[in-house]
Amino acid sequence: ETMPSLVGSEMCIRDRHIMDAKQFNRNMLRQIFLRSQEIMYSQQGGNSNNISSLLNGKVIGLLFYTPSSRTRCSFESAIKKLGGDTILLTPDTSSSQKGETVSDTLHTLDTYTDGLIVRSPNDITIQEFQNETENTIINAGDMLHHPSQALLDLFTIRQEKGTVNNLKFAIMGDLSHSRTIGSLVELLCNYNVEFYFIATHKLQINPAIIEYIENAQKHSSSTGYNISYFIHTENLEDDNVKKILKSVDVVYMTRLQKERWDTVITVENVKKYYLTKSLVNILKSNCLIMHPLPRNDEIPKEIDTDRRAIYFKQMKYGLYLRMALCELMFG
Ligand code: CP
Repeated sequence: ETMPSLVGSEMCIRDRHIMDAKQFNRNMLRQIFLRSQEIMYSQQGGNSNNISSLLNGKVIGLLFYTPSSRTRCSFESAIKKLGGDTILLTPDTSSSQKGETVSDTLHTLDTYTDGLIVRSPNDITIQEFQNETENTIINAGDMLHHPSQALLDLFTIRQEKGTVNNLKFAIMGDLSHSRTIGSLVELLCNYNVEFYFIATHKLQINPAIIEYIENAQKHSSSTGYNISYFIHTENLEDDNVKKILKSVDVVYMTRLQKERWDTVITVENVKKYYLTKSLVNILKSNCLIMHPLPRNDEIPKEIDTDRRAIYFKQMKYGLYLRMALCELMFG
């Protein structure tokens, strides 16, 4: 028997597009995670008959202006597992090569498909095009947002810890240029959380994200969510930072996103902000080590075998979450 999907659900998202993480509230998140979990169990049991065929006969267009391994492959796989088909367009194979604008290329793909998944060029947001398409768009990463990554991050935490509530997060790496961090923080503001932003001064958290947290704090009496944040520019060898690392439930690391730096930034002692085996040894025994991937040198390969390092599992959870999302938005 085919399992019920989220489509038509009273409580779930009513927006036409998924543009950013601010669109989701706690109820929507719960429903999306429950459906992702059902899909996961069904896939893990090998009984794909239990997966809905809501995308049967539908063609979903994937427009990716910047490289992607996980987002692109997991969305493609999700669509195909739900009975749909895909068309992939990238700037090297499209008429972008002949000077076609993003808007015109998007309009073209919109014409031939039943839904759109878009990763925009690094300097624009997908919101700019939200009134230009007939079809629903899922944002697969733009200048500021990566909502499906944040959703899969929370799904991972929920699966691994049982809850996202009352957790302490050390968020590290290149916070300034990470759209993933922005979306993750926005989603986490639906829970009681403590953020520790640990990065060198030039790569610290974007002031707009701090403003978002402070606004959420102002509304805590109506939402009931207690959120606190702390900014640390000391490196990971600092005793205060080590004390924090010993206490957190999740270490979320990101790479230096040099392709998104608009000027050459000289970062002093950047390696002192990288995770090492000895730092992992001081983490709590049930602390999760997460990373949206791809990684560079900020998490050495020797950490991969630590049972707390769940970044590859996180990538797998992304498939189930994106299946639930595609059912919901394109089904
Ligand atoms: N995390 C993430 O978005 O990975 P890709 O860039 O490989 O899609």
